[in-house]
Amino acid sequence: MTSSEPTFPQRIRSFIRRQGRLTPGQQLALDDYWDKYCLDPKADYDFVQVLGREEAPLFIEIGFGNGESLARMAAANPDKDYIGIEVHKPGVGHLLMLLNQQGLNNVRIYCHDAIEIMENKIADNSLAGVHLFFPDPWPKKKHHKRRIVRTVFVDLLVKKLKPGAYFHAATDWQNYAEAMLAVLSEGSGLRNTSPTNDFCECPEYRPLTKFEQRGLRLGHGVWDLIFSKE
Ligand SMILES: C[S@@+](CC[C@H](N)C(=O)[O-])C[C@H]1O[C@@H](n2cnc3c(N)ncnc32)[C@H](O)[C@@H]1O
Repeated sequence: MTSSEPTFPQRIRSFIRRQGRLTPGQQLALDDYWDKYCLDPKADYDFVQVLGREEAPLFIEIGFGNGESLARMAAANPDKDYIGIEVHKPGVGHLLMLLNQQGLNNVRIYCHDAIEIMENKIADNSLAGVHLFFPDPWPKKKHHKRRIVRTVFVDLLVKKLKPGAYFHAATDWQNYAEAMLAVLSEGSGLRNTSPTNDFCECPEYRPLTKFEQRGLRLGHGVWDLIFSKE
C-alpha cells in the first residue's frame, strides 16, 4: 500500500503529545529493542512477513498506554498476532521492556497516530479485531470533538475489519459509553453483540488496564462495547 493524503479530519487529533519523562529502564528498552519491535510509520509492510506467520489472526490495540494489558493478552494468546499503536513514548518504552522480558514475538508497535496508521498502512478487510481500551475521555463538552470514536472512525473500522471480525471498546465514562453506543449503532455495518443491544459483560480475554484501575479507584463504572462486522 502507498501512503495517501489522510481523509480523516486530522486537524482535530484524539491526543495531545505529552513529552513525559522516560525512566532509565524505558530509555534502555527504546535504545535496545526499538529496531526489533517498532515499525516505521512511513514504510509499507507485509505483516505476514513481519510477524512470520500465515495463519495467525491479526489484532490492533489503539492507545495501549503502558502496554501491560497488551503484553498480557499477547502472552495469553500465542496463536494471535498484535499490533499496538501508541503515541506516548514512555508507554512504548514500557511495552518494549515487557516484550523483551517475556520473550514475546507476536507483537509489533507503531509509535504514531493510530488513525494515520489505520488509514494508510492497514489493508482493507485484514483485521480480526480492534481493541480500544479506555480511550482519552475528553470529558468537557467543548472537547468532545477530540474523542476518537466518531462516525469517520467507525467508517474506517468497518473498512479494515474482516467480515465477522470485531471492535471492542471499553470506557469508565458513562457519557462517552453512551455516545459510542449511539455512533456504533447508527447503521454503520457493525452489529452489536450485546444480548441487550447495549453493553456487554467484560469478556475474560480483556485484562484490567491501568486507566481502568484508576477509574475504579475514583468510583467510576466500566462499560464494554463489542460490535462485529456483518
Ligand atoms: C486514557 S489512556 C488509556 C491507556 C490504556 N489503554 C489503559 O487503559 O490503561 C489513552 C491512551 O491513548 C493514546 N492515544 C490517544 N489517541 C491516540 C491515537 N490517535 N493514536 C495512538 N495513541 C493514541 C494516548 O496517548 C493514551 O496513552
